[in-house]
Amino acid sequence: MRIANIVGARPNFVKIAPLIRAMTGKPTLAPTLIHTGQHYDQAMSERFFQDLEIRPPDFNLEVGSGSHAVQTAQVMQRLDPILEASRPDLVLVVGDVNSTVAAAITAAKRGITVAHVEAGLRSFDRSMPEEINRILTDAIADLLFVTEESGRDNLMREGIDPARIHFVGNVMIDALEGSRRQWERSSIFDRLGLEPNATYAVLTLHRPSNVDEPGVLANLLETIETLARHIPIVFPVHPRVQERLARQGRGGATTEPADRLRSKGVAYIDPLGYLDFVALVSRARLVLTDSGGIQEEATFLQVPCLTLRNATERPVTVTHGTNRIIGSDPGRILDEALQALAKPPCHIGPPPLWDGHAAERIIEVLVAHGRATRST
Ligand code: UD1
Repeated sequence: MRIANIVGARPNFVKIAPLIRAMTGKPTLAPTLIHTGQHYDQAMSERFFQDLEIRPPDFNLEVGSGSHAVQTAQVMQRLDPILEASRPDLVLVVGDVNSTVAAAITAAKRGITVAHVEAGLRSFDRSMPEEINRILTDAIADLLFVTEESGRDNLMREGIDPARIHFVGNVMIDALEGSRRQWERSSIFDRLGLEPNATYAVLTLHRPSNVDEPGVLANLLETIETLARHIPIVFPVHPRVQERLARQGRGGATTEPADRLRSKGVAYIDPLGYLDFVALVSRARLVLTDSGGIQEEATFLQVPCLTLRNATERPVTVTHGTNRIIGSDPGRILDEALQALAKPPCHIGPPPLWDGHAAERIIEVLVAHGRATRST
């Protein structure tokens, strides 16, 4: 069974790592890896391939940055001839980025079976570009792998045949568990001047709704700087945000991150690799984020998480985890953060099937599907 695995952006690399590992060495599977080039920097792409020990891609479409339409169209245009020439039996896409939906459409139009890993998540907020990507990808996928029960419920409500839906757990957790020995040895604490038992929070922000409007971003950062008087905050800054911060006179390298953390402040730092970031979250007292995957990582690592959005597509992180959805109102962020710091962190077990074996379950389904298709 020839499987073309498609990745494009940072969170995709984390998801594909355990899948490629589980496919490699299976005699009946011939996996190839196609990088769309949606993320292309050393920090946003190569570093993740190194940290997660992903083999170099067989193809790189080098689409780079652009409007959503341009990015999506270029992935389709450049992927199509590769699919035509290599004729895979199945195209596997992960997550909800523009590369995901573009590859799914290209494959479906060629009559190739599409598998979607992390299907069924819904924020019910169509102003999020990822929500459109999720709905469209799931509507045309043949095999839908869900990470939590809500995924199955959402897909069934949308009329997807239950036989196509497989609740397998979460490959992000496979990646996290699979690299535990490496991230536990990360030198990020020394590099930031954090003592082994230091108390600090981690912040990430990159959603257009939080960072694209200068006024919204300025309000958020003022709140964060106020909160930093109570707990030092490490803020690895996504490239999308870097230039906007510079325009607001924030995040300049006038003070060393270590000095900022010692004096209770916000340490604006460059984006981190996977191992350093997971290590940093694992010992944090609090996470503030607008990312999807980080809500899951914080839940699994039992670190209290506040999500600076109005909705989550990952409700299990709230019902079974440490996550609270608090929006972007400055007063509420401060209140919730201070409350979270006042309470001892609670220890709950991981959500169902978040056990480090999701990739194996996915491969079993793919192999069975291949066998069934050959015999018909
Ligand atoms: C994309 C995904 C988002 C995911 C995020 C993780 C979509 C719609 N969005 O958002 O779901 O959570 O990745 O990071 O697919 N840039 C660089 N170097 C890079 C890549 C991007 O400097 O390697 C800069 C460019 O200025 C670019 C901007 O970041 O314009 C945004 O990148 P883009 O891929 O459009 O979206 P993200 O915000 O990263």
